[in-house]
Amino acid sequence: MSPETKPDFLISPEGLRIDGRRTDELRPIELKVGVLKQADGSASIRQGKTYIIAAVYGPRELHPRHLTLNDRAYLRVEYRMATFSVPDRKRPAPSRREKEISMVVANALKPALFLEEFPKAVVDVFVQVIQADGGTRCAAINAASLALADAGIPMRCLIPAVAVGKADGKLLVDLGDEEDKYGQGDVPMAILPTTDEITLLQQDGMFKKEELLEAMQMGINSCKYLHELQKEALRRAYVKKASENGDEDDDDEDDDFDDDMETDLGEADLMEDE
Ligand code: CDP
Repeated sequence: MSPETKPDFLISPEGLRIDGRRTDELRPIELKVGVLKQADGSASIRQGKTYIIAAVYGPRELHPRHLTLNDRAYLRVEYRMATFSVPDRKRPAPSRREKEISMVVANALKPALFLEEFPKAVVDVFVQVIQADGGTRCAAINAASLALADAGIPMRCLIPAVAVGKADGKLLVDLGDEEDKYGQGDVPMAILPTTDEITLLQQDGMFKKEELLEAMQMGINSCKYLHELQKEALRRAYVKKASENGDEDDDDEDDDFDDDMETDLGEADLMEDE
């Protein structure tokens, strides 16, 4: 177990955070699509030191059958932390927290999906936290949303997510682990970026009404930026796939797929367009 000490301050006299970020600055983010061979869709996210992989299987037959929904597919999300993802060994049995986050992630993603197109089926989303350093539920949503698009699940749009918190009386975007642990509060949120509708909003800690409204606006702004990164990651993945298949003109600017339309981002459809 690595010893951890409470930092003297979370915001320096110059107004910078412990990792040198400004209050409205996200951690460095790296998104990759199509990282697993066996899954129908997959993606990874590095957000600061948080590192997560998401895999999607389906739509496929649902077992156990008593979970079947006659009018739509069942979105089954399994969020898990690797035993080595935190300094104290995480016990392998699913914890209450993991079950809660699995539900929260599913609820955040559902409004973007046309699940009614696959009655009685299941879409399985597996989220594995390889390294946890704060903000794992939001990073899980960012990666799972890309993995769903990679699997060709029909979607209204991608879902970006970020946590806004409070430390030393200041609002902060994208909390790291120490800010989460020693700060005054945490508001994870996810949005449909095409309509600004909120699909996840949780609150931990005390916020004044004005602070909460400002935190939500900061969250929406950051989600819009994350959405651009998500679209770019998808674009890169398909340009790479197309060039591996020997297709030409794949990085043509016209070859752009705008996810604010009702669109299936599956590989088959993209290939047909060419
Ligand atoms: O990860 P997120 O902020 O969405 O969820 P949280 O429940 O607020 O957890 C905050 C952080 O605590 C996680 O991101 C982990 O870095 C850490 N954590 C931990 O060290 N050990 C656990 N068993 C669970 C969480």
